Amino acid sequence: MSAHDQEKYLNKLKGANVLVIGGTSGIGFAVAEASLEYGAFVTVSSSNPERVHKAVAELQAAYPSRKDRVKGYECDLGEQATLDANMRGLLERVVDDTGRKIDHVVHTAGGGGLLEGKLAEMGPGDILGQPVMTRFFAPLMLAKHAPEYMSPGPRSSITLTSGVIAMRPMRGGMASIQSAFAAGLIGMTKGMAMDLAPMRVNLVLPGPVDTPLYDPLPEAVREGMKAQVGGTTLTKRFGRPEDLAESYLACMKDENLTGASLETNGGISLV
Ligand SMILES: NC(=O)c1ccc[n+]([C@@H]2O[C@H](COP(=O)([O-])OP(=O)(O)OC[C@H]3O[C@@H](n4cnc5c(N)ncnc54)[C@H](OP(=O)(O)O)[C@@H]3O)[C@@H](O)[C@H]2O)c1
Repeated sequence: MSAHDQEKYLNKLKGANVLVIGGTSGIGFAVAEASLEYGAFVTVSSSNPERVHKAVAELQAAYPSRKDRVKGYECDLGEQATLDANMRGLLERVVDDTGRKIDHVVHTAGGGGLLEGKLAEMGPGDILGQPVMTRFFAPLMLAKHAPEYMSPGPRSSITLTSGVIAMRPMRGGMASIQSAFAAGLIGMTKGMAMDLAPMRVNLVLPGPVDTPLYDPLPEAVREGMKAQVGGTTLTKRFGRPEDLAESYLACMKDENLTGASLETNGGISLV
């Protein structure tokens, strides 16, 4: 009789139906990779169809034996008028195309550059624009529709994304707005954990991470910022998406974790 090692921890995501909203780039793309490596079926989504196509092709090339486990759909979450219907349509499509309910949703979608501008120049309509719609209101619409499209029980989870600016506002003229919504996500996560229980809801708060989010900045500014951040963090480097993915995996796999906020920022919030 041959003995087999137990695989109590390795298989927690095996066969799970995972949707990564914002999974075509950066942190979300790394979560999609990690989920595939742990044996999940993965759907990535974002607003740009070319980006969706490219991300699916890259994932299929990186995991050729799991090609049929990767799907991708376009879904724009940046417009108030279409947000509710688009979120619902995305969840419905994933359930229809995979033939079963979704076990885990990870939300990393967040466009609109780095929310440039000045508070002094903004009205309420500007504040409730695409960056806030995608990062703050989209999770609320996700919570609205989750009971219909997600598997019930503590094995299922939603993981949202905020940022270190929730605790440590950034200079630049937009700190009031950025930090209000970033910190609001901490309360939203606790409330959603209550509303959707026993399904679990958690939040990841990244510090600076090297992703295409910074591509719109001029190269010199980007490189200067990376060097400055690298000198500031306790880890002495910029975060990597593959490091961040571990926190999202923990949120999906730890069936005892709910309402929690995980800070992963190289210690930058301490200095
Ligand atoms: N990188 C950092 O240093 C850092 C630090 C703290 C917090 N964060 C937050 O973490 C989240 C992920 O950041 P990241 O660095 O991974 O950024 P990223 O590489 O730019 O990825 C953002 C993702 O969101 C999608 N997206 C943008 N607008 C969208 C919309 N209207 N509807 C649906 N999807 C949309 C993008 O795809 P499309 O363009 O195709 O829509 C992309 O897949 C963001 O909320 C960001 O603010 C990042």
